Amino acid sequence: MQRRKFLQNSALFSAMLASGQASAFARWKNGKRKRVALVGTGIRGSSLWGKNLVDNYAEEVDFVGLCDKNAGRLAYVKDYMAADCPTYADFDEMMRTTKPEWVIVTTMDSTHDIFIVKAMEAGAHVITEKPMTTDADKCQAILDTQKRTGKEVLVTFNYRHSPHNTAVKQLLHDQRVGKITSVDFHWYLNVYHGASYFRRWHGYVENGGSLWVHKATHHFDLLNWWLDATPVQVTAYGALEHYGKNGNMRGDSCRTCAHKKECPYYWDITKDKKAMRLYVDNEQHDGYIRDSCVFREDIDIWDKMSAQILYDNGVLVNYSLTTYSPYEGYRIGFNGHEGRIDTWEDIPYQRGKYTTAEQEELHANEMSFGKEEVPTEFHEIIVHDNFNPDFERVKVPKYRYGHGGGDKRMLDYLFVNPDAADPLSHMAGTRDGALSILIGIAARKSIAEGRAVRLDELVKV
Ligand SMILES: NC(=O)c1ccc[n+]([C@@H]2O[C@H](COP(=O)([O-])OP(=O)(O)OC[C@H]3O[C@@H](n4cnc5c(N)ncnc54)[C@H](O)[C@@H]3O)[C@@H](O)[C@H]2O)c1
Repeated sequence: MQRRKFLQNSALFSAMLASGQASAFARWKNGKRKRVALVGTGIRGSSLWGKNLVDNYAEEVDFVGLCDKNAGRLAYVKDYMAADCPTYADFDEMMRTTKPEWVIVTTMDSTHDIFIVKAMEAGAHVITEKPMTTDADKCQAILDTQKRTGKEVLVTFNYRHSPHNTAVKQLLHDQRVGKITSVDFHWYLNVYHGASYFRRWHGYVENGGSLWVHKATHHFDLLNWWLDATPVQVTAYGALEHYGKNGNMRGDSCRTCAHKKECPYYWDITKDKKAMRLYVDNEQHDGYIRDSCVFREDIDIWDKMSAQILYDNGVLVNYSLTTYSPYEGYRIGFNGHEGRIDTWEDIPYQRGKYTTAEQEELHANEMSFGKEEVPTEFHEIIVHDNFNPDFERVKVPKYRYGHGGGDKRMLDYLFVNPDAADPLSHMAGTRDGALSILIGIAARKSIAEGRAVRLDELVKV
């Protein structure tokens, strides 16, 4: 396609998505608690969006209903949250009976669209966990319903809110190294956190859209936000070479496995009280085995992924995701006409220490919430001007808990200070939700069809 036509299409695509952008985050606060219903009482729904809101945001949030398809988990979570509201197996009944103003969606990824669409149609605004959804047609349905109903859909991109990621955004916003032309972005999941995706429902494309969508939606959203540009085309490669059918031993679950002693991925769920209460105690209701084998032969997601993403302003990104690394972290470099910005998270030898116990804990820390600690360590961002042997080290306080401090900042912004200025556009709506998943959906299609895939092929203008 000629370059001009290509860019024209991209501009149309961008404008179409912009029409669905959330506009009224400020509506949250008008002096009274909002009536909120939640669907999906798993780990995220019961913790950050459940007990945490009951304990820390009671002046802003009034839970009117909880819904989950697993009756046992639902009953346990109502008790755990100490929520003074009824529970429902049927979402439609909850909407009819409780008439919530807002619905929080924290179910399995591939079901988000059902509840987002139904909630808007029933007259409620929506807060949805990432990824907004998993497929292009579901994305289209969300965009169309939002256009028709005029309801808000907030997509909770907590990674944007961490002080480290915010500092990167500020430097780019200020054009500190001139116009950015390309980006090198590489993300590593360690053998504990990375493996956990292959144990759970996330191991099947139909449930989470693969890690291209479930996980990388965070990374692609950061890129889109940092670059303040619209992705237009993706070329990708990927394979499943480590987990799944590649293992030379397997069992039904870690608990019952004959290979406990020799399997490096053996995980003892019985040591995790919350996981036992949430999942193991309620297996009889839905058959979901939380400590499934990472070497199940039918796992169909990729475990190594690489993509090139082209943006409407010409920026070219080289991205990769590895799921069996000895350490958890990322590296990113932004190449500009006037220099380069480099930063990273949790690369152990750059911090001078590494323990396997620490690697095992990293994910648990990330998912935890509560009181923020006073940071004693710093992230570094290196700003290096061309033709200058010196470089600047920007130091940003490092918060360990709640996704680098992002969870708490996002919730405060959402519930406590919704009228605060948002100069760096931290809050995300359907446009951001769509663009970040469409990169991953395009990557899947690129791998299947062996070609570059344009994003405007996936949702209709
Ligand atoms: N932003 C983040 O950093 C972050 C972190 C963790 C999870 N998440 C997201 O939160 C969501 C939930 O993840 P999780 O780890 O809590 O998973 P989970 O498996 O612990 O919980 C999912 C819950 O949804 C319920 N559910 C599934 N399908 C349903 C349906 N059709 N109707 C009603 N209930 C249904 C399940 O029974 C379960 O209780 C996911 O979308 C995930 O991507 C986001």
